[in-house]
Amino acid sequence: MGKITISTLEKQKAAGEKFVCITAYDATFARVISEAGAEAILVGDSLGMVLQGHDSTIPVAIEHMAYHTECVCRAQPQSLVIADMPFMTYPTAQQAMDNATRLMQAGAQMVKMEGGTWLSDTISMLVERGIPVCAHLGLTPQSVHTFGGFKVQGRSPKEAKSILADAVEIQDAGASLLVLECVPAPLATDISRKLDIPVIGIGAGPGTDAQVLVLHDLLGLSAHTARFVHNFMDGQSTIQGGIRAFVEAVKVGQYPREEHSYS
Ligand code: KIV
Repeated sequence: MGKITISTLEKQKAAGEKFVCITAYDATFARVISEAGAEAILVGDSLGMVLQGHDSTIPVAIEHMAYHTECVCRAQPQSLVIADMPFMTYPTAQQAMDNATRLMQAGAQMVKMEGGTWLSDTISMLVERGIPVCAHLGLTPQSVHTFGGFKVQGRSPKEAKSILADAVEIQDAGASLLVLECVPAPLATDISRKLDIPVIGIGAGPGTDAQVLVLHDLLGLSAHTARFVHNFMDGQSTIQGGIRAFVEAVKVGQYPREEHSYS
């Protein structure tokens, strides 16, 4: 199989084939994740929590993201590499352009930004200039202090309507992918059906086109995990086995189950 591109993921959505994304921050795990068959690798700003030991992603800097993106890309994974734009690196379209350029030059194939309608112009500007964008809605961790904690989003009809409207607008602005985090499963299913672009869920139930988990969570290494996390090392004797178990569980529809979802 050759390098995965956005066209591969679009075809998988059209065919109803689930795909998998896992976070990675270094070359070894990028290779292992790619060999396990995950279609996408996210160099997530979750590295601020799982590598750097912070209690949020807010302290992460663009230099950290560029460094870890380079480490991941040196493994030459087949998986599509998406790199996160950290906190306050995209408050204006020009700042987004400058910082996204650094991640693309570090080897990323796409950048990810948290936000909805307010990001439309930025998304259009980046896409028009050749930088593909993955948007991120629902529980956007960089806004943890606005939400008053890591809380499920979209539970009220008003919030759900606003997340759906944001999703449609970022698609119209040119986003190629959407990550939906910690929203009720029926809302995520509805959004995935309404959008043409692939939707990657995390804590968003089984109805999205793909699933993403933080590597350390799926390997059972995190001290505190959310309801949607499953330890895929259960019954496995190797890390490679645990990662393969996650990939297979998503593809055959065994993960996530109802107990991993919010209603
Ligand atoms: O930074 C990250 O790892 C993420 C995922 C949780 C989607 O954004």
